Amino acid sequence: KTSEPCDFVLFGTKGDLARRKLLPSLFQLEKANLLHEESRVIGVARQDITNAAYKKQVKQNIEEFGGETLCLDTWKRFSEKLDYVCVDMKDEKSYQVFKDHVDKSRTMVCYLATPPSIFGDICRGLNSAGIIDHSVRVVLEKPIGHDLASSKVINDQVAEFFSEKQIYRIDHYLGKETVLNLVALRFANSIFATNWDHNCIDHVQISVAESVGIEGRWGYFDEAGQMRDMVQNHLLQILTLIAMEPPAVLDADSIRDEKLKVLKALRRITSSNVQSDTVRGQYVSGFVKGKEVPGYLEEEGANTESQTESFVALKVHIDNWRWAGVPFYLRTGKRLPSKTSEVNIFFKRQPHNLFGESFAQLPPNKLTIRLQPDEGVEVTVMNKVPGLTSSGSMDLQKSKLNLSFSETFKDERIADAYEKLLLEVMRGNQALFVRRDEVEQAWSWVDGIFKAWDANNDTPEPYQAGTWGPVASIALLARDNRAWYESR
Ligand code: BG6
Repeated sequence: KTSEPCDFVLFGTKGDLARRKLLPSLFQLEKANLLHEESRVIGVARQDITNAAYKKQVKQNIEEFGGETLCLDTWKRFSEKLDYVCVDMKDEKSYQVFKDHVDKSRTMVCYLATPPSIFGDICRGLNSAGIIDHSVRVVLEKPIGHDLASSKVINDQVAEFFSEKQIYRIDHYLGKETVLNLVALRFANSIFATNWDHNCIDHVQISVAESVGIEGRWGYFDEAGQMRDMVQNHLLQILTLIAMEPPAVLDADSIRDEKLKVLKALRRITSSNVQSDTVRGQYVSGFVKGKEVPGYLEEEGANTESQTESFVALKVHIDNWRWAGVPFYLRTGKRLPSKTSEVNIFFKRQPHNLFGESFAQLPPNKLTIRLQPDEGVEVTVMNKVPGLTSSGSMDLQKSKLNLSFSETFKDERIADAYEKLLLEVMRGNQALFVRRDEVEQAWSWVDGIFKAWDANNDTPEPYQAGTWGPVASIALLARDNRAWYESR
């Protein structure tokens, strides 16, 4: 059971995120008996509908996006917890109505699944209704701003009413099992813990590829682009977990302190290295999984002049003792051949070759962490080819040690990231949420790249949908005698 009964107030309950992810995740928590029986889920939107009509809509959402046949017993329990409040979120007066729906004996969690431009209005409204006290928690969805300056404005607006201890900034990648497992893999296994630095590691690749396009989100996406939508948050968060020093304990601030140090150590990209160390691309029409798809500028609602990037590749340096001289290559894009997120850690070659030419041709060890799909961990090792040879030579070949989550944890359902994160908010654990200084440090680094792109008048390079991005992305690694690893 969760430790406490909760009033979970969902602002923007009719939005895409709430319908696709948040409500189905809450339902799964109910199914797993992880919602306290006294907890309430209170949807908030502008539409004036009855609680019964809201319940009907939520049921449809869960049937559509829940990914399984609705369990009626669970639905009965869950629907009894559902409540609905009609609020004009920009109108302070309309928040008075909350008083009749929330109960001070329960912890209140306000999830702002709304555009960040109204985060301030919501906080002010709640405050004017006298609802905010030190026990109320607020969850903020990304994007928190467009750059450092705008993110500070949003953070300041929320900070007027909530202390940092009450604020939970979501980056849903931090709730993914395999991302969480990075911490276990690194710090619970001495074979990795002791080989995790510039002495042993040659370079790191972080690849988050998506086969989808912008899925009808032109308005949002074109303002953001892949850098702000994916790199500033998800990819940099993965990078910090791979690169951080071991925290003394696994509490929220110890982990976040270490992550922040990594962000501070990122070498700035300026106009002097932007051309050699960054690539941005925009897809043109092509075939993804055998299906013809339009180019970015032909998407519905597109501004055909747009220079927004749908692909980014970066060569990143972490200027600290552990990572000196070890490049981290990051790449993410829409309309790539498949949806695959993985981290590949390439180890250095042995200092001396005992095995002759065949060994020299083999790649060094590699650790692959498959974040999604087909979650798992794989290590490539060199192995003797069994058998007798007349020359007595020892032939080696590359083999794989493969831990597949679906095979190893057959009986475990892999929970959606949002299930994990919602549960942690209700438990009051901030470890998996991003602290203000992390968000701002990440923005400050990303802003530098935009500044350099602007200074160089760089425009995105076209790439055909269904390919791995612009040729320049291949060249980014080829210049260093390396290549992107493509597992599928
Ligand atoms: C979101 C981005 O944060 O993450 C989307 O806004 C992207 O553009 C999505 O598609 C990817 O998440 P996942 O969990 O499907 O890898």
